[in-house]
Amino acid sequence: MELVKTIQEVRVAVKAWKKQGLTVGFVPTMGYLHEGHRSLMDAAAAQNDKVVVSIFVNPMQFGPTEDLEQYPRDLEQDRNLCEAAGAALIFHPEPEEMYGKNFCSFVDMTGLTEGLCGKSRPVHFRGVCTVVTKLLHIVQPDRAYFGQKDAQQLAVVRRMVEDLNMDVTIVGCPIIREADGLAKSSRNTYLSSEERQAALVLSRALKAGKEKLEQGVREAEPILAVIRETIRQEPMAKIDYVELVDAETLQPIDRVERDALAALAVFIGKTRLIDNFIFTI
Ligand code: PAJ
Repeated sequence: MELVKTIQEVRVAVKAWKKQGLTVGFVPTMGYLHEGHRSLMDAAAAQNDKVVVSIFVNPMQFGPTEDLEQYPRDLEQDRNLCEAAGAALIFHPEPEEMYGKNFCSFVDMTGLTEGLCGKSRPVHFRGVCTVVTKLLHIVQPDRAYFGQKDAQQLAVVRRMVEDLNMDVTIVGCPIIREADGLAKSSRNTYLSSEERQAALVLSRALKAGKEKLEQGVREAEPILAVIRETIRQEPMAKIDYVELVDAETLQPIDRVERDALAALAVFIGKTRLIDNFIFTI
């Protein structure tokens, strides 16, 4: 496995593979890798001849008051995990390699990016769309892998690839959780042991909402109410949003008649965590 820091080196490696007729799977990440990222790499390895992983904490997707500086980093551990997963190449650029000094071109989206996380993180999806476009242009993969953990990101990337005719297949992968239900996240490392316990309220609340749906409830209000009520019972938790939206358009719904996404963002102390589930009709 090779680790490279320049766009040129990625292009040389990928061109050589393509010349041999090999397929390329791509897993974009911000590093501090865990089993969630590993599941994406495993899916990529199962479906492609070569796997490329990018590790880049993308400054453009962080707001001015967010955790860019504190975002956890551990390149040695990441390298071991990628090696164990059978990745062929890690792309680990410096910010200057991705954003030259006169950089002024962006990929932006309306609609899908305005609700859910886009409401409290107004610059986030412009940063995600821009960096994912750049990475897809650099790596030119056959398939790229994204987690359902970031449900809005997955929907946004799918739409962007369709709208802009990008020649890549986007593969969505299920949420990987800790044994007690907490969705794996690089940001879980911010939690104290007390907060780690309190963070279980996210998956517990979603489970309560899911139970309502499974009992046949289709009105959004009682489903949202039970989720919100469960979270309010945890004193360390503060709701950013709890929403029930159409799984494709991400627009809020009053009744579940098509596939729906129940999504939430909750602050546990200073740490903002997200979780969701899709209910398929
Ligand atoms: P990052 O948070 O590192 O996540 C990289 C990928 O791993 C994303 O597609 C995310 O959905 C997936 N992932 C994270 N936790 C997961 C879990 N518990 N189960 C399944 N998949 C999980 O998302 C980003 O980085 C960035 O926005 C990026 C796409 C790299 C652009 O900068």
